[in-house]
Order: sequence, then C-alpha cells, then structure tokens
Amino acid sequence: MTGRPHALTFPAPAPAPAVDVAALRTEPDYRAALNREFTNVTAENAMKWESVEPQRGVHTWADADAVVDNARRHGQQVRGHNLVWHNQLPAWLTEGVQNGTIGAAELRRILRDHITTEVRRYKGRIRAWDVVNEVIDEDGTLRKSIWLTQLGPGYIADAFRWARQADPRAKLYVNDYNLEWNSPKIEATLALIKDLRSQGVPVDGIGFQGHLGIQYDYPGDWANVMRRFADLGLEVAVTELDVRMVLPVTPEKLATQAAYYGRALTGCLSVPACKEFTVWGFTDRHSWVPGWFDGEGAACLLDESLTPKPAYTTLLTSTP
Ligand code: G3I
Repeated sequence: MTGRPHALTFPAPAPAPAVDVAALRTEPDYRAALNREFTNVTAENAMKWESVEPQRGVHTWADADAVVDNARRHGQQVRGHNLVWHNQLPAWLTEGVQNGTIGAAELRRILRDHITTEVRRYKGRIRAWDVVNEVIDEDGTLRKSIWLTQLGPGYIADAFRWARQADPRAKLYVNDYNLEWNSPKIEATLALIKDLRSQGVPVDGIGFQGHLGIQYDYPGDWANVMRRFADLGLEVAVTELDVRMVLPVTPEKLATQAAYYGRALTGCLSVPACKEFTVWGFTDRHSWVPGWFDGEGAACLLDESLTPKPAYTTLLTSTP
C-alpha cells in the first residue's frame, strides 16, 4: 500500500476507522494496516455495554483496553463509542427491565454507574464520546427505548452531565444515522440539542454516522446540515462512514463509491467545525454490511486482501 491517509496535506481530520478487536489480535496484516494508515480509531463493538459488563457488576475491559492500548502505542487518538444505546445492551439489563426486577430508580442508578465507570476508566484517553446513540426516531420523535419509557426524556441530560463529571475534558456527542438527509430527524435533533444547551447540559458535538449506499442518491445537502449544527457552536464529526453496494463489485460501482467517499470528506473539510472523519471498518474483510444487508457489501476503503480501492485513493486527493 502506498498512500497514508494521515499524511494528506489537509489539516485535520484524517480518515479514521472503527476497529475489530478480534482481527486486531489475530491478524497481523490487519494490525499492520491499521497502525500504518490511521492516526485516530474507535472500537466497533468493544466499548458497548454488552461487551464491558456482560454480567451485572462484572466488568470485562480486555477488548476495549486492547483498542486503547494499541492506539497509545501507535500515537492514535481514540473516539469512544458508545455510552447509551438501545442495542447491544447486556441481557441482564434488558431482562431485568422486562420482568420488572429492575425498576426505574434502580435503572437510573445503573445507567449513572455505567457511564461513570466507563468514562472514568478511559479518562484522558478518549478525545470524544458518543454519549447518546440513535435517540431520535425517523419521524423526529424521541426513540421509544427502554431509557425513554423507563426514565423519561431527562435521561439524555443526565447522561451528558454524568459523562462530563467523569471526564471534564472529553468532548460529548449526540450520534445518529440518516441525519445526513432525513429532515424530521435533523430538525428534531437540532431542537433537542438547542434545548439541552439552553439548560446548560454539556453537549459538545454532533456525530453523523454516514451509512451510505450507492444505490441511493448521495445526500447532497449533508454539508449544509453539518453547517446548521456547527452554527449552534457544536463540533461536527463523521463517525461511521461506509458506502455499500449491491454485489457483485464492478469498476463502475467502485468509481461511484469513490465519489461518495470523496464528497463526504470534501463536505467535512469544508466545515471548519468538522473534527473527525471515521469510517466503519477499513477493510471489506471485516464489515458489518454483508451480515445486515442481503446481497450487499464491499463498503470499505480496502478490499478483503487489504488492497486499496479507488475510494482510498480518492480520499488521498480530496480537498474542501
Ligand atoms: O460477539 C458475538 C459472538 O460471540 C457470536 O459468535 C457472533 C455470532 O453472530 O455474534 C457476535 O456478536 C455480534 C457483534 O456484532 C460482535 O461481532 C452480533 O451478532 C452482531 O449483531 C453485532 O453487530 C454489530 C452491530 O453494530 C450491532 O448493532 C456490528 O458489528 C457493528 O458494526 C454495528 O455498529 C453499529 C454502530 O454501533 C451504531 N451505528 C450503526 C452501526 C451499524 O449497525
């Protein structure tokens, strides 16, 4: 591989990937590419609640530590993903809520302890945390997760306050998908963050996941949406970019994919508040896409054998 995304001539941000811990441990070529190419990383699954507390009160930090320790050894900055989500929760928690053995007051304490424990553990080593993930539904209402139904909407403000207490220097983000184009979601998220900040809740940034597919139009207004959030005084980040396609791969599809990646980076670079550009996996060898979208895949910058695709080269030459 010849290029180095982090050696691009633009200032920050340089492309950064989500890391598969199993691959980091067992695949030397994956590890080598990760550490050669990138200066900023996030954990794809290792920091999620089901990973760090699979049994109540029993914390398993080995995987999250592996990402953070590897990053430290290679001078990489780390993004924390995530603290409050409706997915990948430990079974003891969801079952306890369902069967009524965990009531609202206890659930609130459990959430506070989770946030405090995890954020404190990595204090000073995480640049930014996705504090709440996917809390707005497609229609612009608050998602009816166990958090909303058990604790009411105040859980969001609580989560940010607890995170700030645990690490006052980490940037604290709202993170969501389809925020690149879905107008009810965009308006609701802007309103939510304005409201939180008017109450003094420490929200610092907005994360656009950016799970795109070339069978859909590129969300052409995305950079303008970024600007609307930046105008509130927020940091902006692309947090989970990938660009999938209906298989088989063809040169034409790879060219379209490259254009989508390039437009996303160009958009981010055109917004001074855009601080990070994270891709959700960097190789087609390890990507969530084929497991979730039947007949789709090839969404990453490098192919299965870690050979750079046209999208990789496009990122090297993207400018605002
Ligand atoms: O850990 C188990 C393993 O023990 C078991 O053998 C295996 C069998 O299927 O499953 C493993 O768990 C999988 C887990 O990833 C870890 O690899 C789950 O089945 C699988 O559902 C899970 O998928 C993750 C998904 O979030 C869950 O919602 C993806 O890897 C991950 O890329 C994806 O990431 C999310 C972001 O966090 C939030 N935004 C959307 C994005 C894509 O869905």
